[in-house]
Amino acid sequence: MLDWSEPSAPPRQAPPAFDIPPVAQADQTGLGAIDRRGGRVSVDDKRMINCRADVNQLLPLKYKWAWEKYLAGCNNHWMPTEVSMQADIALWKSRDGLTEDERRAIKRNLGFFAASESLVANNIVLAIYRHLTNPECRQYLLRQSFEEAVHTHTFQYIVESLGLDEGELFNMYREVPSITDKAAWAIRHTQHLDDADFKTGTPEADQAFLRDLVAFYVIFEGMWFYTGFAQILSLGRRNKMVGIAEQYQYILRDESIHLNFGIDVINQIKIENPDLWTRAFQEEVRGMVREAAELEAAYGRDTMPRGFLGLNASLCETYMHFIANRRCAQLGLARVFDETENPFPWMSEAMDLKKEKNFFETRVIEYQNGGALSWE
Ligand SMILES: [Fe+2]
Ligand SMILES: [Fe+2]
Repeated sequence: MLDWSEPSAPPRQAPPAFDIPPVAQADQTGLGAIDRRGGRVSVDDKRMINCRADVNQLLPLKYKWAWEKYLAGCNNHWMPTEVSMQADIALWKSRDGLTEDERRAIKRNLGFFAASESLVANNIVLAIYRHLTNPECRQYLLRQSFEEAVHTHTFQYIVESLGLDEGELFNMYREVPSITDKAAWAIRHTQHLDDADFKTGTPEADQAFLRDLVAFYVIFEGMWFYTGFAQILSLGRRNKMVGIAEQYQYILRDESIHLNFGIDVINQIKIENPDLWTRAFQEEVRGMVREAAELEAAYGRDTMPRGFLGLNASLCETYMHFIANRRCAQLGLARVFDETENPFPWMSEAMDLKKEKNFFETRVIEYQNGGALSWE
């Protein structure tokens, strides 16, 4: 019989040499040699970046906002296959249910999102996760990665339901210049982190990491996704493509938490490393936001050359200016465009699924939502 009990007096042995890490080299991945002599983690040891505290110890929590977002994400769980696509299929197949302009906008919108969800997921898993050295933030990143997988699944489900050309849709980010320009811009800002030897710990490297966070959280998810949501939700308000509109509502709710997590991460890194947030770097970030709004305006003109009821490229450009100024304010930066009214005030209501339920006559499943939390 096997005896699992501990030997009463284990022989004292020196651990093998390869298992003794010098304390000063505490690792940031969580997969380095175990520090047998290290003390327990106290909250004061925890940091967003360049941390030496053990990243495998979730507790004690330091950043409660990260944990709350993890819980809110879990409470918002949904799957695209729970949304009926019957009305969308009938409309898409009917000869005169949609104008040619509406079809073009829908297809390009789906094409933009289909690949973007994967770009965002790859950036989280292969770049951000490695360098954010805090376990509660990593816990949220794991949840976010799963949500990005659900979003990518949504586009697979839409393509399959409507019988769209999958090659055309999933290649738009390479073949449609106004979409390629946005993807290429974001990838340019994460290229440093793609280098296997990249490490944070110098001001230049830490700023490169911040640049990645701004490009993906604030701009990709926080600006470009928002015109995409406005396009589809505007059609949904006119009772068109109501299944996709409902899925976009769920995606929007998830993305609003992703965005707010990213903003909190950047602001916390600023608090802990004020030297990184130089005047020049602030101007650089404002320049990124301005450039991103211009790329989005070009995308709007390309996807909606003539516009349709309630929506056109010029309204979307105004909306982007409104959003760009809002993102600057969230980062503590001066606005980059003249002050402007929000041309789509209904967008802020779109996250409240209970309110919107009357708009959409599709099957809506009640989820516990993060309604008590007010995310933008
Ligand atoms: Fe997403
Ligand atoms: Fe996201």
